[in-house]
Amino acid sequence: MKIALTILFLGIVGFFIGKLIKHKSLYPFMPFKYDFRKRRNTFLKIMELMKKTQAKTIVETGTSREGLRGAKSNGAATIVFGKWAKENNAFVHSVDISEESVKNAQAEVDRQNLQEFIQIYHSDSLAFLEDFDQKIDVLYLDSYDYSSDPEVQKKSQQHHLEEFKRVEDQLHDQSIVLIDDCDLPNGGKGKLVIAYMQDRGWKILVESYQVLLVRDDFALDEAI
Ligand SMILES: C[S@@+](CC[C@H](N)C(=O)[O-])C[C@H]1O[C@@H](n2cnc3c(N)ncnc32)[C@H](O)[C@@H]1O
Repeated sequence: MKIALTILFLGIVGFFIGKLIKHKSLYPFMPFKYDFRKRRNTFLKIMELMKKTQAKTIVETGTSREGLRGAKSNGAATIVFGKWAKENNAFVHSVDISEESVKNAQAEVDRQNLQEFIQIYHSDSLAFLEDFDQKIDVLYLDSYDYSSDPEVQKKSQQHHLEEFKRVEDQLHDQSIVLIDDCDLPNGGKGKLVIAYMQDRGWKILVESYQVLLVRDDFALDEAI
């Protein structure tokens, strides 16, 4: 009986230690309870680069439809970037085609009191980017949902390529591009856009679930 209880106790302790190890928070930047899991390290890296390059204009396609609750599933990037913008005098433009996503993201923006630092637009991202006329310091591509359907995969990849093309002339030597949902079957959202960028003087700085790219002549010494 004593042995069985000890094994049970160790099993429970092991379970919670395992959970804690997997939990990837952005604490103290974000409350500890939010688990950013596979995006935590790329978020940390991009925030470090944004600080060094003094990024001011952040553009995101696909908004945080689950607010901070979606930290583990969707990323909650709108709120991560918005919080960073608040602390660093920057501004986030986030666009989404779904009324529901916009409504939910706006509710989280309001809850976090980030209204002054984030504008959420209800539009197709391609139309929005076509009209966007500011220089972009950070471009985060995360719209057209990827799936296991090969046809959807192709459309998503094409869409993210088109998003980049709409604003590529507004990116500069110190711009940073982050693409979500890349480490997925058949190349994820970034497959076409990354190949296109690499042919045009961009290089991969971090390659994981998200892919982070900068220009070949990005001032690495200053920024890294
Ligand atoms: C994965 S979620 C975005 C998650 C968000 N970036 C985050 O970090 O929490 C993808 C979003 O893209 C939106 N979307 C899909 N197609 C789009 C399009 N053509 N233009 C703009 N948004 C689109 C969806 O409505 C959905 O809300």
